[in-house]
Amino acid sequence: MAIEFSERIRRIPTYPAAGGYGQETLGGANSVVRLASNEAPFPPLPEVRAAIDHAMGTLNRYPDPSNALLRTRLGERYGLPSSRIAIGNGSCDILLAAGEALLEPGAEIVYAWPSFSVYPHLAAASGARAITVPLDAEERHDLPAMLREITVATRLVIVCNPNNPTSTAITLREIAAFLDEVPPHVCVIVDEAYCEFNLLDDPDASIDLLAAHPNLALLRTFSKVHGLCGLRVGFALCGSEELPRALDQVRQPFFCNALAQAAAVEALAHQDTVIERVTRTVAERISVDERLQALGLTAAESQANFCWVHLGEDRDEAQIMQGLQERGVLVRAGAALGSDTPALRVTYGLPEENRRFLDALAEVL
Ligand SMILES: Cc1ncc(COP(=O)(O)O)c(C=O)c1O
Repeated sequence: MAIEFSERIRRIPTYPAAGGYGQETLGGANSVVRLASNEAPFPPLPEVRAAIDHAMGTLNRYPDPSNALLRTRLGERYGLPSSRIAIGNGSCDILLAAGEALLEPGAEIVYAWPSFSVYPHLAAASGARAITVPLDAEERHDLPAMLREITVATRLVIVCNPNNPTSTAITLREIAAFLDEVPPHVCVIVDEAYCEFNLLDDPDASIDLLAAHPNLALLRTFSKVHGLCGLRVGFALCGSEELPRALDQVRQPFFCNALAQAAAVEALAHQDTVIERVTRTVAERISVDERLQALGLTAAESQANFCWVHLGEDRDEAQIMQGLQERGVLVRAGAALGSDTPALRVTYGLPEENRRFLDALAEVL
């Protein structure tokens, strides 16, 4: 007899993870080019590796359950009391915990679609109702339309800026005007996983919004520009102490491992590296976009470390994915990410990796 699972297990969608993990990754012209998961192509800094090595010596002890040093350093970096900073086992962990802390049957969550594939999990896991709002004609969040969906039942609104998978961003002015209209009982998470790559506004400027909005949380991660996704560590900068406290209530005590905490503390001390990586990524963004145009393709206006390529109605997305894969290039198919027209989401890699993607795409087309 088969195991009988809970009703919520039947509701929760399976995360559409990128393929290619476990394949050969190292060296040589024929190695796999991984442009499917919006990872950083840059290896960990020597100083970060040294901090991890050092932390390995005490792995017989549990990690600090309060993540005190990391929260103190983040507080110094962002000018917030550490009591308003939540840490997570990746920022996904914070999203899922927020769903658990805020949602229940009868409650509603509002987010744009297509957006990050984890958001549908929150409603499914809690039994809350998901209200999805289509992106506008430029594939950006339609904040006025999202505002119209907020009701007395709304507990959580997520704004993904820049948006995954479309790479587009909205301005801080638009977000500020939106927040002014959101009722104070509604928690707003602005998911800023890619904010360092967004040139529309200073990535630090959104922090000022926290002073006026206790219901706001800015979700950030060490997985993208800091390049530590293999360790899993993210954080939320919050407008009040209430959310971090509730997030800790719904999670196991030692959710952020010792190596991740040590690496994140060290990574924070290298803001010059962040700037250098953003500069290199933006240079690739410009050159990949030019070559896509030369191939007769258009992409959404990217403010992220990836692009969203429109293949055109007549093209066969699955066939193009297959052709790229045969040439050792892994990207994401739009269909798996909520697109109803043929599209690819492609992370910007190192110049050589981008060249291999574009050459393979030219051949396949
Ligand atoms: C918009 C967005 N938010 C959050 C995350 C989660 O990142 P992590 O859990 O690695 O911090 C991702 C990862 O791809 C993302 O695209």
